[in-house]
Amino acid sequence: MKNNFIIKGDICYSKSQNELNTFEDKYLICKDGISMGVFDEIFAEYKDFEVLDYSNKIVVPGLIDLHVHAPQYTYRGLGMDLELLEWLNTYTFPEESKYQDLTYAKKSYEKFVNDLKFSSTTRASIFSTLHVDSTILLMDLLEESGMVTYVGKVNMDRNGIDTLQEKDAAESESETKRWLAEIKGRYKNTFPILTPRFTPSCTDDLMARLGEIEKEYKLPVQSHLSENQSEIAWVKKLSPKSTCYGDSYDRFHLFGDFSKTIMAHCVWSTEEEQKLLRERGVFIAHCPNSNLNLSSGIAPIRKYLEEGQNIGLGSDIAGGIHLSIFKQMSDAIQVSKMYWRLVDNDFLPLTIEEAFYLGTIGGGKFFGNVGSFDKDFEFDAVVIDDSDYRRDGLTLHQRLERTIYISDDRHVIHKFIQGSKIF
Ligand code: GUN
Ligand code: FE
Repeated sequence: MKNNFIIKGDICYSKSQNELNTFEDKYLICKDGISMGVFDEIFAEYKDFEVLDYSNKIVVPGLIDLHVHAPQYTYRGLGMDLELLEWLNTYTFPEESKYQDLTYAKKSYEKFVNDLKFSSTTRASIFSTLHVDSTILLMDLLEESGMVTYVGKVNMDRNGIDTLQEKDAAESESETKRWLAEIKGRYKNTFPILTPRFTPSCTDDLMARLGEIEKEYKLPVQSHLSENQSEIAWVKKLSPKSTCYGDSYDRFHLFGDFSKTIMAHCVWSTEEEQKLLRERGVFIAHCPNSNLNLSSGIAPIRKYLEEGQNIGLGSDIAGGIHLSIFKQMSDAIQVSKMYWRLVDNDFLPLTIEEAFYLGTIGGGKFFGNVGSFDKDFEFDAVVIDDSDYRRDGLTLHQRLERTIYISDDRHVIHKFIQGSKIF
């Protein structure tokens, strides 16, 4: 039967935000693409299921990347001496303008999709560029890969460069509708998400039109929020009627009141903005590697966790240079230590359990019942071979800790999404 099988291995997943379940040499059961949970033995009901023997390998839920720019993958690691706005103008916008050319787009997107496929990530929310045709090309490649993704054609009608900006709000709206018409019914696992790049790139006229599209098409939304102090000062000038940066989206219903929304960064969100994020259930994509590279700052994730915000992790390629969400987990812990030491000693560093939760269930919630092996969760799993760096005498918890800090994609040996084996 399809998508019915049992994995035998060393199984780890979050029990709660603060606790980890670790089961050595146990059985994880997948029925019709859904987890039945972890068992000591195989009950009669499942005795016909094939057993995949991954003994001594670590099995974890697939990791979730809530924020990544596909067209920035092939130039990551450039311009890391700049801050956000200079970096966008000098490197990012000229690079993204090349995605007008489908041959260029195909070569770069193939590389991105292939590397994502063989990483520990099973689901992602992705920015493309403003170009409709290359966005569809990216979506075709992602669908073929078996991953589950949201992809956004980017909207930008101001403050771009000559070669990367839509003519006006009307053109941005009509291109968005053309994109949605062309992909209608085309995919099973690849979904559109509205993507105003950030407030400096979108006039109020465009935001209002996107708010209408969101309602009509019932689409989720993704964007950037309060990443960098110069950006925030600019938004204050560009959007004087907004009570905070978040309000510049909320005024147009692009902040979670009608549909699920992801806002990347929230490094400098004010109390008012934090309240709005919480009330609207907006998902914060915490991108610690990017926040380090672009000197953006440290998001107060301990505070957000205590206050019950929805939070996941994002690679934010190419602000971030690593696709790996394990790497984002260790970076999240490391930056939280500096926040505690240098900014506010009331907010203790994140634990391994918390960082792992953020990269699995935290972001997984955006996709539904995703990020755990508890009964009824969608069956997304990755199998890690840690024999390369394994030492005797370690608990499974310690092996996972080392995997978070030092593993890379070479150690990811199998991947399952919704019960289908990807490799
Ligand atoms: N804000 C607007 N666009 C971008 C982008 O491409 N990367 C990052 N990190 N922040 C942005
Ligand atoms: Fe980003």
